[in-house]
Amino acid sequence: MKLHEVTLSSGRTFLYNKVSRMSSWFSLLLLIVLRAELGVGQTPMCGCEHRYGVLMDFYHATNGPSWGIFSVVRGWNTSLSCNQSWTGVNCTDGDVVSMDVSSLGVNGTFPAMLANLTALTILNIAGNHITGTLLPAFALLTQLTELDVRRNAIYGTLPPEWSSLDQLAALSVSGNSIITGTLPAEWSAMRNLIILDLSINSITGTLPSNWSQMPSLQSLTISSNALTGTLPAAWSGLSTLQEVYLQLNQLAGPLPVSWMDLVKLKRLRLWANAFSGTLPLDWSALANLTELQLSRNGLSGTLPSTWSTFSFMQVLDLSFNSFDGTLHSSWSNMSMLQTLSLSSNQLSGSLPSSWAAFTQLYVLDVSNNQLSGTLPRRWMEVGSAISPYSFNSLAMDLSFNKLVGTLPGSWLQISKLNTLEVSNNFLSGSIPLDKDHLCSEQ
Ligand SMILES: *[C@@H]1O[C@H](CO)[C@@H](O)[C@H](O)[C@H]1NC(C)=O
Ligand SMILES: *[C@@H]1O[C@H](CO)[C@@H](O)[C@H](O)[C@H]1NC(C)=O
Ligand SMILES: *[C@@H]1O[C@H](CO)[C@@H](O)[C@H](O)[C@H]1NC(C)=O
Ligand SMILES: *[C@@H]1O[C@H](CO)[C@@H](O)[C@H](O)[C@H]1NC(C)=O
Ligand SMILES: *[C@@H]1O[C@H](CO)[C@@H](O)[C@H](O)[C@H]1NC(C)=O
Ligand SMILES: *[C@@H]1O[C@H](CO)[C@@H](O)[C@H](O)[C@H]1NC(C)=O
Ligand SMILES: *[C@@H]1O[C@H](CO)[C@@H](O)[C@H](O)[C@H]1NC(C)=O
Ligand SMILES: *[C@@H]1O[C@H](CO)[C@@H](O)[C@H](O)[C@H]1NC(C)=O
Repeated sequence: MKLHEVTLSSGRTFLYNKVSRMSSWFSLLLLIVLRAELGVGQTPMCGCEHRYGVLMDFYHATNGPSWGIFSVVRGWNTSLSCNQSWTGVNCTDGDVVSMDVSSLGVNGTFPAMLANLTALTILNIAGNHITGTLLPAFALLTQLTELDVRRNAIYGTLPPEWSSLDQLAALSVSGNSIITGTLPAEWSAMRNLIILDLSINSITGTLPSNWSQMPSLQSLTISSNALTGTLPAAWSGLSTLQEVYLQLNQLAGPLPVSWMDLVKLKRLRLWANAFSGTLPLDWSALANLTELQLSRNGLSGTLPSTWSTFSFMQVLDLSFNSFDGTLHSSWSNMSMLQTLSLSSNQLSGSLPSSWAAFTQLYVLDVSNNQLSGTLPRRWMEVGSAISPYSFNSLAMDLSFNKLVGTLPGSWLQISKLNTLEVSNNFLSGSIPLDKDHLCSEQ
């Protein structure tokens, strides 16, 4: 489970979950356990009696009696004293300041009545069975810093009116699948927005150029939608950006050279789009990149030798494009690399001996190119710094190339080697590796 941590301006640390489906179930269970154990957000309700009407409207409109399959729902729909807390509700200074009813089995339409809770700073209704549309009326909740409605069945469009939510730091509507329409250019007014996640929906249209005006944006995720158009060159002004996830869309055009100014960028995922043109040499200025995923596009040209400056790079995936030219010795400078995939291009020339410096590497895929020459003896050092306690082991795929010569005896010393694919080359000779280590298809 990988929790991505972003500290909001309020000083509150927001744990942002970007996990696979499997571990998301796990974290869901963990969340439920934590909520049951710690009573997250619960405070006595004294002072908030004037909100009982709104809260009970919400409760009854969303099948309240059946909430909380995995956890105990306390307080709601009881007539005990105000000293009793209500599950997920935080009453502070005479008003409801936060509400977290995520993954409670809340079932109904998008709760219009909650727009009356004007002191709300946090509203989390994620992971429920909420249908209907996102209501423009929520624009009244101007104190909101976090709004999370992900993993419901909400449809319709993103309300431009929400641009008035200028305290909002984190907004997620991801995983509703049926949210359509375009990205509202008006949202450029969200001056405090740090995290925006609109992924796994059906959003169309282009990336609004004037979102470049958002001065706080650190994490932008609009992957798995139907976006078209190009990457706005003006977004080079988003100087706070640390991660951009736009994979699985229909974006096209060139990779903008101007993005070289996004010097805080750590992760950039643009795979499975329709980008064309060449890799910008000047992106070598993105010195803090740890992940760059550009596979499954229409990119061409040569690999820039200047990219050797990516000394923090861990995941570099350029596979399934039309790159040609050679592999650069200088790339050995990317000594933190863990995954390097260059497969299914038209790369030629030999395997650089200097890449022995990839001691952290556990996936190397250069299959399906035109690579020639021999297997470098020094590569016995590849993966040698993978921790013995790590679950990772080295997989190398060199298949479908024009490699010649024999398997070097030194490769027996690649201690973490788990899989070696060398089929469909012109290799000859015997296999020096013992059978326990290797299943060869020569
Ligand atoms: C309730 O909200 C207040 C104000 O935001 C906060 O200081 C407090 O920690 C919260 N209490 C709980 C139990 O979450
Ligand atoms: C919520 O506010 C609307 C007007 O904005 C009002 O008509 C409605 O009665 C309020 N609901 C409750 C339960 O107070
Ligand atoms: C919840 O409210 C409904 C309607 O007011 C009532 O019939 C029911 O008994 C209440 N349940 C509890 C547990 O108080
Ligand atoms: C609420 O709790 C306080 C002390 O914790 C007590 O003095 C007060 O009587 C309680 N009020 C009610 C209505 O139960
Ligand atoms: C939600 O409620 C409707 C009827 O009110 C019901 O048909 C549906 O099965 C419920 N969905 C879930 C997931 O509980
Ligand atoms: C961006 O464009 C929208 C729509 O044209 C406009 O309402 C908004 O004010 C613009 N934002 C900025 C910061 O210029
Ligand atoms: C790059 O990362 C380092 C370490 O996290 C940080 O000190 C440095 O400020 C970053 N560079 C830029 C341009 O943000
Ligand atoms: C290799 O990386 C170092 C910093 O880690 C840098 O100073 C040097 O210029 C790089 N060399 C090349 C060839 O990129």
